[in-house]
Amino acid sequence: MPTDLAMAKLNLGLHILRRRPDGFHDLSTIFYPIGWADVLEAQPAEHLQMTCTEDSLPADESNLVMQAARHLAQTFGVRTGALVHLEKVLPMGAGLGGGSSDAAATLRVLCRLWALRCSRRRLRRIALELGSDVPFFLYGRAALASGRGEELHPMADYAMPFTLVVAAPPVHVSTAWAFGQIRPTAHERPDLEEVVRSNDLDRWHRELTNDFERPVMSVRPLLKAIKRLLIDTGAGFASMTGSGSALYGVFESECDAIAACDAARQAGCRTWIERPGGG
Ligand code: C5P
Repeated sequence: MPTDLAMAKLNLGLHILRRRPDGFHDLSTIFYPIGWADVLEAQPAEHLQMTCTEDSLPADESNLVMQAARHLAQTFGVRTGALVHLEKVLPMGAGLGGGSSDAAATLRVLCRLWALRCSRRRLRRIALELGSDVPFFLYGRAALASGRGEELHPMADYAMPFTLVVAAPPVHVSTAWAFGQIRPTAHERPDLEEVVRSNDLDRWHRELTNDFERPVMSVRPLLKAIKRLLIDTGAGFASMTGSGSALYGVFESECDAIAACDAARQAGCRTWIERPGGG
């Protein structure tokens, strides 16, 4: 039975550059995959259907898993069905990309289940129709992203030499709403790849900004408090990921990272710790 992990991502810096005629925004960000993941499984079935461990997530056509499955079946004229099971582990509405990653993992498991000969290019096109960051989750390695988030410039050789703590408070943020709060600018933006590769956390603090932080934190002060908590427990750098609500702290000391994780959990967050080299 084909099984796959749908990994989460963090955004290392996120610049919203301009609004586009198609209603989307051009942006610049570094997508950084982490090991926190949902689990997808597919087995043969007569019709397309899905089950999910999370009751609050509708297992119907509104789910990106079902949309991905339908899109793939239509594109390749697949006549059989499939039962896709989603074990939902990742917090939702948290800026970790869980829904998009589930969609990408669905494409992967169903390509295997249906033995499709699908070129990367064709799969990427289907992915982008499902969501702006779905192509990144097909690729799955660190990358500088531009355009809507689908133009990927690989940074697969980059591995962060720090311990990461991800803290997801029980808050959902709508991405579409968050984009509506931004006044985009492409003026005097630092080169995100150069900043990240420096591994200089003071520089990250000054230049690795996320444009969503200010508007989202102004209506959700808890997120500002969690960011403060990460800094106070020893993070050399902390940021929101995507349009929130999850935050992450970057630690030089693993001991500090473990203490920060405990503190964030006590403050009501779900947490993940990612050591250098993953895990
Ligand atoms: O592409 P995706 O479905 O993930 O986007 C969700 C919403 O976020 C879009 O409807 C749009 O309002 C906004 N968005 C945007 N520019 C992007 C990505 C998303 O304006 N590059």
